[in-house]
Amino acid sequence: MAKVYDIAVIPGDGTGPEVAAEGLKVLKATAEKVGFSYRLSHHDYGAEHYLKTGEILPSSAIEEFRHMDAIYLGAIGHPDVKPGILEKGILLNLRFTLDQYINLRPVKLYPGVDTPLKHKGPNDIDFVVVRENTEGLYCGTGGFFKKGTSDEVAIQESINTRSGVERCIRYAMEYCRKRNRAKKVTLCGKTNVLTYAFDLWERVFHEVAREYPDITLDYAHVDAVCMWMVKNPEWFDVIVTDNMFGDIITDLGAMIQGGLGIAAGANINPQGTSMFEPMGGSAPKYAGKGVINPLAAIMACQMMLDFLGEDEGANLVERAIIQALTKNLKSLDAGKMGYSTSEIGDLVAQYVHTL
Ligand code: IPM
Ligand code: MN
Repeated sequence: MAKVYDIAVIPGDGTGPEVAAEGLKVLKATAEKVGFSYRLSHHDYGAEHYLKTGEILPSSAIEEFRHMDAIYLGAIGHPDVKPGILEKGILLNLRFTLDQYINLRPVKLYPGVDTPLKHKGPNDIDFVVVRENTEGLYCGTGGFFKKGTSDEVAIQESINTRSGVERCIRYAMEYCRKRNRAKKVTLCGKTNVLTYAFDLWERVFHEVAREYPDITLDYAHVDAVCMWMVKNPEWFDVIVTDNMFGDIITDLGAMIQGGLGIAAGANINPQGTSMFEPMGGSAPKYAGKGVINPLAAIMACQMMLDFLGEDEGANLVERAIIQALTKNLKSLDAGKMGYSTSEIGDLVAQYVHTL
């Protein structure tokens, strides 16, 4: 019997539900076209649920997700909820508990999309950031001493484990090999200052790389990576880095690929349940207006198909997005697109059917 994918959907807050609906519209069109089956279960965690019930994300829900093939997320965040509560309680909780140790962020400029980089085009901007997703400064260890006094001390530790670093680097090598482009992996670190954490990263990098003689190794400090992402983005193929640096450089990456309107990410546990999300936030100001661009959520759906091994479907969705971009959409800015949120979903779904 053919596999039926079990997908948990967390539409979330603000414009999350609107954009997720368009991703699911495209998923439906793709399933019809290439012939796979799936079951969706909707989970209303987010600000509204929290403000009503005080519950953020129960561990029973996470246990349920463990048995799913994927989680598809809209967006999390609300002005009435103090920053950090939902991010930590939902997003980071899922990443950590489900051990989604890779955050995969393609930085790809599609034809028809404007980049703020002068003289750069789709041939120059096409790389992937492999960000470690469960350790580093995000692990939440540290604390206060003499809080609230003039002698206050605040410590926030970066935890880097040998096994955590190794599995992340190995994933980057494998991904680079499969991607089969420049066959180059750049380690993005700060070996000149963070002489413990990135000493470990650098040693493991070279050790793991011995298993990958076909891959060219490259190293750059994180500040230089920022410079080159702007000046010479064509130098990059796969960048591997820790959690914090990865968080920062992927926002820069989103901007050079045309903005948050198109950037998506995957939180991957290759042996468990992975989660796919558009990079943009919940944009509460625009919620319910139908003016937000759902392409990033559709891209997240594309990444989910790719991860599930539905290569034909993933390829089709990517080509459908390119068609919509080059033939119909004039801009990725909400308001200037000339199409509503659901019209863009319709457009991509229609290309999925006809391509
Ligand atoms: C991201 C986001 C999250 C992060 C926030 C919302 C906790 O910025 O996915 O990059 O810092 O990882
Ligand atoms: Mn971020």
